[in-house]
Amino acid sequence: MYSINPTKTKSWKALIAHAETSKGLHLRDLLKEKNRFESMHIKVDDLLIFDFAKHRIDETTLKLLEDLFDECKVQESLEKQFSGVPINRTENRSVLHTALRDPSTDPLIIDGKDIREISKIELHRMYDFAESIRVGKIRGHTGKIFKNVVNIGIGGSDLGPHMAVEALKPFSNRNLKFHFVSNVDGSDLHECLLQIDPEESLFIIASKTFTTQETMANAQVAQSWLIQKLGVHDCIEKHFVAISSNSKKVLQFGIKKENTFGFWDWVGGRYSLWSTIGMSLCISIGSDNYQKFLNGAHFIDNHVKEKPFRENIAKIMAALGIWYRNFMNATTHAVLPYDQNLNRFPAYLQQADMESNGKSTDRNGVVVNYSTGPIIWGEPGTNGQHAFYQLIHQGTELIPADFIASVAPQHPLYAHHSKLLSNYLAQTEALAVGKPIATSPHKEFQGNQPTSTLLFDRMNPFSLGALIALYEHKIFFQGVVWNIYSFDQWGVELGKDMAKTILPEIEGDDSEHIHDSSTKGLINHIRVLSNKTDNN
Ligand code: F6P
Repeated sequence: MYSINPTKTKSWKALIAHAETSKGLHLRDLLKEKNRFESMHIKVDDLLIFDFAKHRIDETTLKLLEDLFDECKVQESLEKQFSGVPINRTENRSVLHTALRDPSTDPLIIDGKDIREISKIELHRMYDFAESIRVGKIRGHTGKIFKNVVNIGIGGSDLGPHMAVEALKPFSNRNLKFHFVSNVDGSDLHECLLQIDPEESLFIIASKTFTTQETMANAQVAQSWLIQKLGVHDCIEKHFVAISSNSKKVLQFGIKKENTFGFWDWVGGRYSLWSTIGMSLCISIGSDNYQKFLNGAHFIDNHVKEKPFRENIAKIMAALGIWYRNFMNATTHAVLPYDQNLNRFPAYLQQADMESNGKSTDRNGVVVNYSTGPIIWGEPGTNGQHAFYQLIHQGTELIPADFIASVAPQHPLYAHHSKLLSNYLAQTEALAVGKPIATSPHKEFQGNQPTSTLLFDRMNPFSLGALIALYEHKIFFQGVVWNIYSFDQWGVELGKDMAKTILPEIEGDDSEHIHDSSTKGLINHIRVLSNKTDNN
């Protein structure tokens, strides 16, 4: 990968100067410009319209951001990613989740293997298995049809499938109930087990490494629970499947080879929804719909590869994010789906974005002197309107936001949908133009809060695939400009290691460990209280 300090580019310096002169711009005035909407929206066939007219930008801003992308070699980096160059340098891995959704059969050789061939074989195994569950061909130990699917996984092995199963509920097999257990807080698994009949429950243990503490703890308890309920050890064969790149650990755990679905090092955890990690989604919506989901993402892969900057949605999204983060000091970015079924989308994006671009060391190993990834947050509209929108409208923060919705509803309550869409549009308009004159200063709205509008024709497997892929590429483009490695996640390791040291101490081990005074005090407090509870 290239290593270009963005602050040393001509365009970065020009953007700093341009940001100074742009301070006086107000969206109320910008939106009066002739042809503003015409020149600042991108329409993609019958899929979506992306409106970026409600941003504090003008033609100069866009030109300079485009220059920045050129100077930072964004397009060249994208080509390297697609061709399999190991751009995840700190782990020495290629980044090829895009290959999973590419129908091409042209060989793409990584570590001596044609990854197109091996991934298609594995995906087809998943399709067969998912269909067999859906039609009741594969059944539980006592011959009963599965009615519950429990996905046990965390991070990328949970957030993606969970979000997508929710988002595509209208396409799901309603005879099946889906449960997602991720947390090592025992309540998560305990509450799930209370709801399900062991004879009718399939457990999917989803973990790339098959070593993650939370997932392994939950999988082991689920396994013991099932054996105890069904009375025989053999039941595991019928009720447990594994999704992992670590086949050795899966075998040790006791899940047979036929029930193990693989994926590979060149698929990052938070980008793994396109692999067999999508098993729960595939069971829910069926393999035909699952393939449409992959097609939607592949469609966007071609869009981002082929379209010039001004017609490229992911590049514009990325560029706008950089504009606000680096030149206007925005610290957060809100993602606001006006789609209840997308209620897990902000949580999913938090991992995708913050685990990718929450870095402060550049590709040369040098600490950066500019801001990188913002805090991503959000909730579905209209719920958010009755909670945190007050701060966006009248607070002191600049908060760029993405408003996501579909013209067609996913339900038959049409009057509700008109109300939803009127709120969706009203909020972006109110945020942009505000209300500068009112009967009291407390009732004034400054406006000038920037928003992007992503309006799909309808939400379905294809459009969900497209939506996710747009954000994946946005994240990648930003990581390239910020000169960071977007595909590793070393920042999650330290806390994991420390928890391993603290665990035996909490459980009563008396050996001396070095901790800061606060942590030591809290460990002692827990030990004292736990002893009291044990003695009562
Ligand atoms: O939180 C760190 C992380 O490594 C994520 O990147 C990953 O998605 C998650 O843990 C789960 O990992 P695994 O799939 O190996 O259990």
